[in-house]
This record gives sequence, structure tokens and C-alpha cells, in this order.
Amino acid sequence: MATLAPRCRLLGPTGPRPTALRACAAVSCSRRAPVPPHAARPRRVFLGLGATLIDSVARMASGGTSDRTFVAGARPRQGVSPVVQILKNVEWPDEFPFKPEDFSRFDESADTLFYSVPRFVTHIDDEAIRALTQYYSEVLPPSNTPGVAILDMCSSWVSHYPPGYKQEKIVGMGMNEDELKRNSVLTEYVVQDLNVNPNLPFEDNSFDVITNVVSVDYLTKPIDVFKEMRRILRPAGLAIMSFSNRCFWTKAISIWTSTGDADHAWIVGAYFHYSGGFEPPQAVDISPNPGRTDPMYIVYSTKKTV
Ligand SMILES: C[S@@+](CC[C@H](N)C(=O)[O-])C[C@H]1O[C@@H](n2cnc3c(N)ncnc32)[C@H](O)[C@@H]1O
Repeated sequence: MATLAPRCRLLGPTGPRPTALRACAAVSCSRRAPVPPHAARPRRVFLGLGATLIDSVARMASGGTSDRTFVAGARPRQGVSPVVQILKNVEWPDEFPFKPEDFSRFDESADTLFYSVPRFVTHIDDEAIRALTQYYSEVLPPSNTPGVAILDMCSSWVSHYPPGYKQEKIVGMGMNEDELKRNSVLTEYVVQDLNVNPNLPFEDNSFDVITNVVSVDYLTKPIDVFKEMRRILRPAGLAIMSFSNRCFWTKAISIWTSTGDADHAWIVGAYFHYSGGFEPPQAVDISPNPGRTDPMYIVYSTKKTV
């Protein structure tokens, strides 16, 4: 069962969530998150520059008719997903549009503490997982392709690859060794806090695919990490960042917890764009039952060949 707190609700649409993780995933990624007593600075309740940019991009993507509610809700209108639309014909600002505080978090304690206890759970519902696995079955290199290497970044005890999927090298990177040890698709793993050390301990041009499931929102140095992803990907190598609308909100970055699904696609797209060396990022909405079960979105790009 899924455990991450959904945006603006504690109980998912398919029934009650387990209580085990309420202590860490207790409430949603909501703008109404309470300010903790120890917080010296007020938590931003709305976006600054980023919001303006995201809004204007959204308006452009929807033919000028968009408003913030429409963007944040990310519900397909007339069959068009705002999450997909928002990365169509983007005119990226010249400068990286985010401020350092956009990458601050409610809980700034060491991530090693938060992830010290293994969580043998899933973080999105079964329908979303099925949709992701189906997507992977269409885009990942066929099982047992000689020479293929895959990195599952921010991995756990599951990678959601198709059943029986194998490659010579599938590396998992994550925060909890017990979880990674139990992930049967991995051929090796690395425990590393990417917010402390964003350098990926791999050679240049050594991976064909990088996956990252419901975790891009925890990266506080995303551009450093994405530049590293570009470095280790082979030319035309594929990076697949997937996300839903759930998160450990205390550990997700501020710009994520104060924006909606389509904004999230724009944010991840921006990471690809401003890291350089990637083809224009694309979004795919693979939500299995829009509005009824967990949504599932992909933002992907490939490393430029020249
Ligand atoms: C919500 S879980 C998702 C795990 C897995 N991808 C899945 O789909 O089940 C978030 C994951 O992000 C990873 N993560 C969070 N903060 C991290 C950090 N600072 N450095 C590296 N990985 C991190 C952890 O390994 C954790 O398992």
C-alpha cells in the first residue's frame, strides 16, 4: 500500500493509508502545512519568481486561458493533461529561475536520520505502480540486452521494473542499505546522500538509462545531480524521472510542496534544461484513473549526442 502523504489529503482515494509512516509522512504536501515552533523564518506560503514564471509558461501552454488553479490541479481538461502541456514549446528564462530558499525543507536535519530505518512499503498505490511498470516495459531496453547498464537513483527495495527484468548491471543508489539489499533487480548498490555529495561514483558515459521514482523532490542540489546524470549517461542515454502527488512533505523541497503537479513537471524539466546537454525534456501523463487513484507522471530526456 502507498505511504507517502498525498497532496492536500491524508487518506487516499482508494481507502485508508497505513499508519506506520504517519510520523514522517503525516500530512500532505500542502500550502497549509503548519509552521513548526522551531522555524525561525516563516515558511513561504506561495511562490515568488518561480511562480510567476511557472504561471506564465502554463498560460502559454494552455493557449492563454490557464489560471493557477487549473495548473496546480493538473486535471486533464478536455482530455489534455496540463502536465504534458506545460513542457510543450517552453521558452525557458535565460537564468535559472529558482532561488536558494526554493530548495529549503521543513525538516533540515540530516537525511541519514530520516532514512535510517528501512521502509518495506510502497509509496504510491498499486494502480500507479502498474502504470509505471507498464511504461518501463515499453521504454527500457529489452531484458538481458548485452552491455546495458541502468542506474535506479533514489532507489529502495523495489524499482518497479517489469517482472523478471534483468540486465548485466543495474545499480541502485539510495539512503537505506537494508532496503537496497532486498531489491532483487539490482546487481549492485551504493548508499549515498546526494544532498551532501551529489557526485555520482561512476565513470563518464557508463549508463544507458537512469530512473528515479517519486524522489526527485528530495534533491536539494538538483542541478549538480542532473549534471552528473548527464556525465554518466552514454550519448542518447535516457533519464526517466517519475512522480505522483505524494511525498514525505517534511523532506521535499519548498518549491515542490508549494506547487502542483504541472508545476512539478516544469520544475523537473527546468532541471534538465539548466543542467545543459540534454534534449528538450518531455512529460507523459500515465495516470491510470485520473482523479480516482494516484496520478503518475514522467518527465524524461535523453543526453545529447553532440
Ligand atoms: C519515497 S522513497 C522512493 C523510493 C523508491 N524510488 C520507490 O519508488 O519505492 C524516496 C527515496 O529517495 C531517496 N532519497 C531521499 N533523500 C535522498 C538523499 N538525500 N540522497 C539520496 N537519496 C535520497 C531514498 O533512498 C528514498 O528511498
